[in-house]
Amino acid sequence: MRTVETDVLVVGAGPAGLTTTALLARDGIPVIAVNKYPDCAHTPRAHITNQRAMEVFRDLGVEEQVLARALPGDQMGHNVWATSVAGRELARMYAWGSGPQRKGDYENASPCTMVNIGQHDLEPVLRDRALELGADLRFNTELVEITQDETAVTATVLDRVTDERYVIRARYAVGADGGRSLVAESLGFPFEGETGLGTAVNIWLEADLEKYRADRPGALFLTIQPGRDFWLGAGTFITVRPWNEWVLIVVYDPEKETIDLTEEGLTARARKVIGDPDVPIRIKNVSQWQLNHVVATRYRNGRVFLAGDAAHRHPPANGLGSNTSVQDGYNLAWKLSHVVRGLAGDALLDSYHDERQPVGRQVVDRALESVGVFGRIPSIFGVEAGQSDEEGEAALERFFGDNDEGRDRRAKLQEALEANEFHFNAHGVELGQRYSSTAAVPDGPMPEYTKDPQLYYQPTTWPGAYLPHVWVVRDGKRVSTLDLAGQGEFTLLTGIGGEEWAAAAAKVGDELGVPIRAHLVGRGRDVDDAYAAWAGAREVAEDGAVLVRPDRYVGWRAQTLGDDPTGDLRSALRSILSTK
Ligand code: FDA
Repeated sequence: MRTVETDVLVVGAGPAGLTTTALLARDGIPVIAVNKYPDCAHTPRAHITNQRAMEVFRDLGVEEQVLARALPGDQMGHNVWATSVAGRELARMYAWGSGPQRKGDYENASPCTMVNIGQHDLEPVLRDRALELGADLRFNTELVEITQDETAVTATVLDRVTDERYVIRARYAVGADGGRSLVAESLGFPFEGETGLGTAVNIWLEADLEKYRADRPGALFLTIQPGRDFWLGAGTFITVRPWNEWVLIVVYDPEKETIDLTEEGLTARARKVIGDPDVPIRIKNVSQWQLNHVVATRYRNGRVFLAGDAAHRHPPANGLGSNTSVQDGYNLAWKLSHVVRGLAGDALLDSYHDERQPVGRQVVDRALESVGVFGRIPSIFGVEAGQSDEEGEAALERFFGDNDEGRDRRAKLQEALEANEFHFNAHGVELGQRYSSTAAVPDGPMPEYTKDPQLYYQPTTWPGAYLPHVWVVRDGKRVSTLDLAGQGEFTLLTGIGGEEWAAAAAKVGDELGVPIRAHLVGRGRDVDDAYAAWAGAREVAEDGAVLVRPDRYVGWRAQTLGDDPTGDLRSALRSILSTK
């Protein structure tokens, strides 16, 4: 068998694999990515794309392309519950920071907005960018075997077009091969959690529902039909294209209910939850999936790393799967890039597990809990298993009625909707991860949270936290502090009186072969703190410094300019890169 050599092999070209591959290619790292299918995802699947993922796309230079294909944030926000799309509306709540109470939080946190974009629309943008950056992306190429020894990873792949088997030998490999990861299985990565907690079917369909949706636009529309026994309601419509293309997700208990998966059966079901017999329906695709609650307890095994669903598998509640996968890639790529180039020690790669595994743990737990709070809602409307249509209708009338039962149930609905804030407006879960690892040099305890850490993102420059976004002005244009960082390089932010830090950055960068971009942010300077927003966010003195890693996490900070800025910076960077 012929052998191809590379530095990094990425198995899988979904959101995790494509992000990792594009970032490595941008750094000039030889990388081969394989995907067993002929092309990217062919169905929508993931759609809620949060601000952190959008910031990664902004760093990769594809934010505009993503926005051009997406339902914008201001069209995503009305979560509506109704007996059918055309039927009686039961409740609404604002989602994804769109409501007046949360809008400012989301706007203040990021230069990017959330968007709703189907995975089949997102992945080609990432694929094209990876190719443009020089990645060797091989479709129709299936991993069939993977082993590793002390010197390399050896993967046998099958070219599904020619039927040829060949070997790819790589210094490192990333298992981004999704929820049925062969990489994880072959190399014995340990997992904990439960699988098969529920069964769902995705029905991708076309139906013109503009008259029912345009005045209450949203990413999600949730139906609850009285008299029917559906676990999480009758079905959830995910917007694919406004307002004529959807994925209808039906979660069901196979022990109690059988779904007729024929085209006629699915069309009939979709017609029932649309509730308007005159709307033509065209089914485009059907797929089934399982609800899992599983996370790898190790993300690294020797030269191999897990990223994305290969490492964490959970329900789509909170819309965290693809977002977390993209951020896994953002964390791992710069570390691999520095180690492969000989600029960092192997221990930097351990920090990938230390930083991302707790995030995976948090995400799978949050998603499962959200399924629980979401699942409470149908029974509050009186929709119960086994009841007749008439019983269901009567229970619904009592819900709306001037009676004690109605009052009690309406109060319960309010509580349930408040609990669902943790599902649909969990800004802290979306953005607020703080890391503890050798790749961030702490200077004291992590700052206390002053608000609920799941609901609210609380920025800080504490090493291990993400660089706070504020607006500053450069060349007359408003730019984000996040735009000053990233691009695969370290960045040092200082202020007036901190000029010596810039000299230190140049010197240490030269010495260690690791470029450090320096920006002086202050009133009247090249980067003008015109709104005094950085002054309010930096948590160090004007002449202090904040060292930002390539993934825009703070790696170290100095409260003020000391006697030996070069020595201080050198020691911090060597510590982050595990080179001392
Ligand atoms: P993903 O599964 O996407 O990709 C794996 C890749 O590996 C594929 O390219 C596959 O072909 C390849 N592969 C597998 N085995 C291989 C082999 N042996 N050889 C070569 N290639 C191989 N997430 C989110 O953030 N927001 C949301 O709104 C939603 N909503 C949502 C709804 C529904 C209904 C579902 C089912 C899922 C979501 N998700 C989501 C989750 C999201 O779809 C999921 O988390 C991501 O696709 C994970 O991305 P990965 O790149 O890790 O794996």
